Amino acid sequence: MSFSIPAPLEARLDELVTHYPVKRSASLMFLHALQEHFGYLSNEAVEWTATKLGLQPVNVYELVTFYPMFRQEPLGTTHVKVCRTLSCALAGSGELRDLFCKKLGLDSHAHAPQTTPDGKFTVEFVECLAACGSAPVILVNEDLHERVSTSEAEKILVEGGRRSGSVGGSAAKGSANPAGK
Ligand code: FES
Repeated sequence: MSFSIPAPLEARLDELVTHYPVKRSASLMFLHALQEHFGYLSNEAVEWTATKLGLQPVNVYELVTFYPMFRQEPLGTTHVKVCRTLSCALAGSGELRDLFCKKLGLDSHAHAPQTTPDGKFTVEFVECLAACGSAPVILVNEDLHERVSTSEAEKILVEGGRRSGSVGGSAAKGSANPAGK
């Protein structure tokens, strides 16, 4: 797979390095910028970062694998994060996640984030989303949904289907397969 960094982005990162006493200190900023641009951090992005900053790839991989905000796989167009911490768990977040997984044909027992094969949805169980008083809570891309009912979860799937271009598809018709598989 070819990997190329747009010239303006590379220029921005080159300039960024000059703000730090040692190149290595710019590692996290590089990773944030590359993830923002590509949507995730591929092996090529990690190796490119290491080369740029005079590091070994393992020095960059240890950052990518340590911090939960970094992703090594591309996400679906609609990213559903379901809170699994106590308040939300007691309010039924496990059932919500099961519903999302069932409707999308994903494994509800998997630990890692799961993405539908068509790239439309990613479903992930996460820790507290800081809205415990209105559990159960889910984050859909940048939008926080509070006191989520099963009917609202169904609507979220339909909206996600629309966002990824399947308006009027199976999700909008209430079938058990909004990913269109
Ligand atoms: S426990 Fe779910 S938002 Fe805090």
